[in-house]
Amino acid sequence: MNTDRLVVLGTGGTIAGRAQRPEDHLGYRAGEVAVDELLQGIVLPAGMRIEAEQVAQIDSKDIGPEVWCLLLQRVRQHLDRPDVRGIVITHGTDTLEETAWLLQRLLAPAKPVVLTCAMRPATALAPDGPQNLADALRVAAEPCARGVLAVCAGRIHAGAEVRKVHHYRLDAFDSGDGGPLGVIEQGICSWYRPWPSALSEHAPALCERLLAARQWPRVECLFSHGGADGWLVRTLLERDRALDPESEDRLRGLVLAGTGNGTLHADLLATLQEAQAAGIEIRRTTRCASGRIVSDDEKGVRVLSLPPAQARLALMLELL
Ligand code: SIN
Repeated sequence: MNTDRLVVLGTGGTIAGRAQRPEDHLGYRAGEVAVDELLQGIVLPAGMRIEAEQVAQIDSKDIGPEVWCLLLQRVRQHLDRPDVRGIVITHGTDTLEETAWLLQRLLAPAKPVVLTCAMRPATALAPDGPQNLADALRVAAEPCARGVLAVCAGRIHAGAEVRKVHHYRLDAFDSGDGGPLGVIEQGICSWYRPWPSALSEHAPALCERLLAARQWPRVECLFSHGGADGWLVRTLLERDRALDPESEDRLRGLVLAGTGNGTLHADLLATLQEAQAAGIEIRRTTRCASGRIVSDDEKGVRVLSLPPAQARLALMLELL
């Protein structure tokens, strides 16, 4: 059978955004233009056939378990089809890094799953979405491509490392110290680093558990900052004490975006130790934009060396 099919899954975002005026790059509604419409006029990679499916139509700031589960199911199903070479997902930029991390952690696919996006709405005078979408399709058609990738402004990022670093610039993403996996220029990919690794043996079982969960474990994310005296943590603990001990809404984990090397204000740390004693799992990472923390264990609070939003997902999976 020919493996000449690319599946495009639409989820919304600015790439599908519509504004009243072409020069308006901010006052638009994300998730308005259908994925079929986004594909009109896009030059397809030679010999490839396209299939499009609208999985969601949201502003990605509003994403959560419901859309993530749907997306995981649809991606998994399409990846299993022998005729499918790769998948492209059109997504909002605001939480693209969370979706990309989750898909890579749970599916680590042997075929390419390429997320793409835009910083300007589809109705802009010079939208960036069409070029990003064309590039993403080209990357998904690349022989031997695999893993979850993100394509934006000509750069190809590993899904597990990509991070939004600018709120307005067209080249809004970065891959941290390792840099992007490659670039795409004039439809030609150049690779700097190897593809993301293929399936980890525990991923399918973990994915099943997540999809079957009635409610995902509640894990919240807080910052350490000047004057952080643990008030918020004490408030959360009080709220939990008022809940039924069996309630699925009880706080199970907390991720702390610490200062510098993931350090925590001494007063906050004291309260976190109370939370640990109450059975809440605590992890710390850094609030710095780049870098990885290597030191472990600050008075019993372990490191999870990921950006805060991805660390929250990682701890949530650990608590499933
Ligand atoms: C969104 O994340 O859905 C809106 C913002 C964007 O795509 O740039």
